[in-house]
Amino acid sequence: MQIVHTLPALADALQPYRHPAVVPTMGNLHEGHLALVRQAKPLGDVTVATIFVNRLQFGPNDDFDTYPRTLEADCAQLEAAGCDLVFAPSEQEFYPEPQSFRIEPPPDLTHMLEGQFRPGFFSGVCTVVMKLLACTQARTAVFGKKDYQQLMVIRQMVRQFNMPIDVVGGDTRRTSEGLAMSSRNGYLNAAERAQASELHASLQDLARAVHAGDRGFAALEAGAMDRLRASGWQPDYVAVRRQKDLQAPQPGDALVVLAAARLGGTRLIDNLEL
Ligand code: PAF
Repeated sequence: MQIVHTLPALADALQPYRHPAVVPTMGNLHEGHLALVRQAKPLGDVTVATIFVNRLQFGPNDDFDTYPRTLEADCAQLEAAGCDLVFAPSEQEFYPEPQSFRIEPPPDLTHMLEGQFRPGFFSGVCTVVMKLLACTQARTAVFGKKDYQQLMVIRQMVRQFNMPIDVVGGDTRRTSEGLAMSSRNGYLNAAERAQASELHASLQDLARAVHAGDRGFAALEAGAMDRLRASGWQPDYVAVRRQKDLQAPQPGDALVVLAAARLGGTRLIDNLEL
């Protein structure tokens, strides 16, 4: 596996290939990321992972400075997962001047759910993903479904800019207690970890109620939020939406339930397609 840190070295490394399959990451990798790499492997003639902690998608009170940077361990795991090439630029390499050109995703997709609680997040994500897909010459890009809204926003960006890239969603990997794998799970202490599976359990119970025919989504959402509060979480939202555009569901729509909540100082998200 080759590891490159500069754009010219990346261009050189990509020269022999026609169909890079790319997995963008911010590092601090876990099994969820490695599953995306394994999923990407048969989808291109070279499997590329990017590792870059993108300042543009963090808010002023977010964890940009403390976000774990674990390049050596990440590369060892990527190599074992069959990755061929890692692009891990410095900030100076990737943003040599202030990134004043930004991608601004449309409000209908981003002024709700995560966008409501993390102003500027999706603009930061789209801007970095646009740059990462361009410089890796991606023909396939794989993103985790745990970040459901992010995946939807990226799909729309790629479609509307006519980028010749297949955007593929990878299923969420979970711990044995059901906790969705996330780099931020590492922030949980032992007591919080014991409570953490409540997030997924609340979504599962809500899903069961919907499958049983309950269409009172507002009450189900409020019930799930109460349950989370009772087990020590501070929920930002639990929302039943339609899968195709995350708007309020109409009869017959395929549904997804999405949630974000804080446990202590850690904010986690999760979702379940119904
Ligand atoms: O999902 C992530 O890890 C990040 O948002 C991404 C897509 C790598 C962009 O920085």
